[in-house]
Amino acid sequence: MKILIVGSGGREHALVWKISQSKRVDKIFAAPGNPGMNSLAEIVDIKPTSIIELADFAQTEKIDLTVVGPEQPLALGIVDEFNSHNLKIFGPTQKAAMIETSKSFAKEFMRKNNIPTPAFKTFNSSVDALDHVRAASFPLVIKADGLAAGKGVFICQKKSEAEAGIKEIMLEGKFGKSGERVVIEEFLAGQEMSFMVISDGKRIMPLATSMDYKKALDNDKGPNTGGMGAISPAPQLSRDLFNTIMKSIIEPTITGLKFENKKYKGVLYAGLMITREGPKVLEFNSRFGDPETQVVLMRLKSDLVDVLEGSADENLFEVNVDWDKNVSGCVVLAAKGYPAKYGKGQKIQGLERAKVMGLEVFHAGTAQVKNSLVSAGGRVLNICASAPTLKETMDKIYNGISFIAFDDMTFRRDIGWSRR
Ligand code: AMP
Ligand code: GLY
Repeated sequence: MKILIVGSGGREHALVWKISQSKRVDKIFAAPGNPGMNSLAEIVDIKPTSIIELADFAQTEKIDLTVVGPEQPLALGIVDEFNSHNLKIFGPTQKAAMIETSKSFAKEFMRKNNIPTPAFKTFNSSVDALDHVRAASFPLVIKADGLAAGKGVFICQKKSEAEAGIKEIMLEGKFGKSGERVVIEEFLAGQEMSFMVISDGKRIMPLATSMDYKKALDNDKGPNTGGMGAISPAPQLSRDLFNTIMKSIIEPTITGLKFENKKYKGVLYAGLMITREGPKVLEFNSRFGDPETQVVLMRLKSDLVDVLEGSADENLFEVNVDWDKNVSGCVVLAAKGYPAKYGKGQKIQGLERAKVMGLEVFHAGTAQVKNSLVSAGGRVLNICASAPTLKETMDKIYNGISFIAFDDMTFRRDIGWSRR
């Protein structure tokens, strides 16, 4: 089989790595890929948002299955484009991906289907939104309706912050069209958790549980990021909680979308808050989490291609998966300043040593400049390992990291820690 992976981050490197282990796969292409994938995949110079070019490429190369990493191509309708050319692709259609791409759609959908989520109101006008927050109780949360690269959420402790947030999103147009509408919702306290399943539109296959560490700094301090690390399994997820999430959130979502003629195929990722009243949905993503995917795939013993194809072909019932009992972990090495401004082009050293020590090193934001590997993004590298216990896993990772260096390298030192 020939497989095309769309994307260039650590999540996509992990997908390439896992898919390369499939006996069914002869060749992998990655568009636009990254230097870490060089030995496993042929790099193709097409942007993830160039969906027509990608479909042309898949047709010319006779690609058997395309796997999409990031959300932007899904929002642009890459799956619809491929379907219209009879090209097999893993992921939801543009309509089904609205569960991620429009927060107001997702919230209305949850209200209609009795899926637990914070109380909310949607506003199309800044005047109405400002009126609402002037009379509201705090804290509250303001969200740009559309995709905003994880930056469109404002947690506001007081009126002045809410007013500033609405101005930034709706009046200054910081997120363009994504900010023409806002959702204002109740603030929830509790423990955050992510939950990923794969669906073929009808059947649901839960992935191994995982949790990510969203804040930039140790002890969950600092700004939100795409994720600074992850572990699998999620330690706080009991069997009861797992069943509640499946019954009250995941099953009604897949069934409800099918009912609305938005059959959901691909990964459904629920960002949850575990409150005293039970789990509630903060957001849905229509794609694999990053870096959650890295730790989940480290534990997958079965052929990932069977799973992805089962979803695309709508025969997931024929696929069984086995998970390794080991605990897996991932620490993100980032460039100082991330998620705000950061530098690039710093020479990276020590990766070979880390690999010899048995670590998996996934590239997230790197570039090859002449003979040197350099940093080229906010999240630069993902250092991953698995071992029988969380403590052994994290010790192995942090030991390996001590041999890796680039100027301005920064990382959290407490991934997995509070629950060891
Ligand atoms: P979202 O993109 O909607 O998941 O929001 C990004 C982050 O903001 C989440 O991971 C939470 O940490 C936080 N957040 C979002 N909505 C709420 C809420 N209603 N209450 C508390 N925290 C929230
Ligand atoms: N790690 C969070 C996300 O992928 O959205």
